[in-house]
Amino acid sequence: DGEVYKYYSDGEWKKSSSGKSVAIINPTTRKTQYKVQACTQEEVNKVMESAKIAQKSWAKTPLWKRAELLHKAAAILKKHKAPIAECLVKEIAKPAKDAVTEVVRSGDLVSYTAEEGVRILGEGKFLVSDSFAGNERTKYCLISKIPLGVVLAIPPFNYPVNLAVSKIGPALVAGNSLVLKPPTQGAVAALHMAHCFHLAGFPKGLISCVTGKGSEIGDFLTMHSGVNCISFTGGDTGIAISKKAGMIPLQMELGGKDACIVLEDADLDLVAANIVKGGFSYSGQRCTAVKVVLVMESVADAVIKKVKAKVAKLTVGPPEDDCDITPVVSESSANFIEGLVMDAKQKGATFCQEYKREGNLIWPLLLDNVRPDMRIAWEEPFGPVLPVIRINSPEEGIHHCNASNFGLQGCVFTKDINKAVLISDAMETGTVQINSAPARGPDHFPFQGLKDSGIGSQGITNSINMMTKIKSTVINLP
Ligand code: G3H
Repeated sequence: DGEVYKYYSDGEWKKSSSGKSVAIINPTTRKTQYKVQACTQEEVNKVMESAKIAQKSWAKTPLWKRAELLHKAAAILKKHKAPIAECLVKEIAKPAKDAVTEVVRSGDLVSYTAEEGVRILGEGKFLVSDSFAGNERTKYCLISKIPLGVVLAIPPFNYPVNLAVSKIGPALVAGNSLVLKPPTQGAVAALHMAHCFHLAGFPKGLISCVTGKGSEIGDFLTMHSGVNCISFTGGDTGIAISKKAGMIPLQMELGGKDACIVLEDADLDLVAANIVKGGFSYSGQRCTAVKVVLVMESVADAVIKKVKAKVAKLTVGPPEDDCDITPVVSESSANFIEGLVMDAKQKGATFCQEYKREGNLIWPLLLDNVRPDMRIAWEEPFGPVLPVIRINSPEEGIHHCNASNFGLQGCVFTKDINKAVLISDAMETGTVQINSAPARGPDHFPFQGLKDSGIGSQGITNSINMMTKIKSTVINLP
């Protein structure tokens, strides 16, 4: 009790000179679980300085050695899965088994990144001049990929470990240094993850982890002249960052309103299973959660009946008991979700279950007959509340999906593959899943959002490429 977790700078664990701390509230007990250092702007400056120095020699470290260290970190991370998962349970109320899965998945992600890095960064390109009109074969162009410098990584609360390593791994293998600003909820899990990289023996200053108040160090970090790339996953803050950031590459994954379009010929058991998994796993707190069901009127009653039967079986309670539905991350999040539910109620949505809330725990709720004038038709609850809109044609579904300011993923259920592909082509989203709920993984698949859902593409290969710059050397022959 009273212990404040140290932050990681220049290869050492340090106390902030601010003498202040930030409290992490356990979403289940709503009491302070942990405290982390409230770092100052001077401490951020110091971290940036060390990152810049460390990067110079890291870029010259052989690629196979960089990959070797990442493999080492991956193995250590997996070994530490139990204590890190425990932090995820206490800080973000992630169900116990999912918390372990997140850490194991992260170890696998780092290993794959090391392997992919040696392959794609170990290969360059070679061009000759006489393929362009009017040129003789007198210029040879050698093209390779070089690091950007210092990468700033800002992951969200819902995957504080996995979405940290999905930025750290690619950055490091490509020869960059990395500064991590974890979310407050999830900061201790992230510090423990950073400790695994420390134990692996990365050079000091190459990776650091600063904690603190967004109001004190948020803008200061994202607008810092020492930052050469920002990789951010989260909400609206990303839009603000993109407006303020300097002339540097940005990788952004923001919100989503993933639509699930159900056609008349769909396998309705498969549909129901995916709506429940897609809509309610981790209590709907995934950017790729199913956030609106657009179902053909002729099969709507049957789908709702099947979904209701499955929702009734979801367990609701603390993450320690590995319940399906656990408390949402904060009281303000629970209040926001409740606001969307009350708006839908007032405007006449049909409640398939009774609305129930205790503290931050919200029971799973399916809302039928949602109409476009309701906020929940468009806004992202990030909670276990799922709206259903009945449609009379696939075009109506596509239209609703495309009218959203988000464009992360979507899914379509039908046995007709031709229809599925045409609908996928018409949906303005980064990915469309045919006959399955949206999901980011496996982690080497490309992952990207259109419109307000993001900038650039993630997934291991794309992230490595994004964190490099092309360098060419031209040999001019006489
Ligand atoms: O919350 C956003 C995550 O990138 C979603 O990842 O599809 O693996 O749950 P997931």
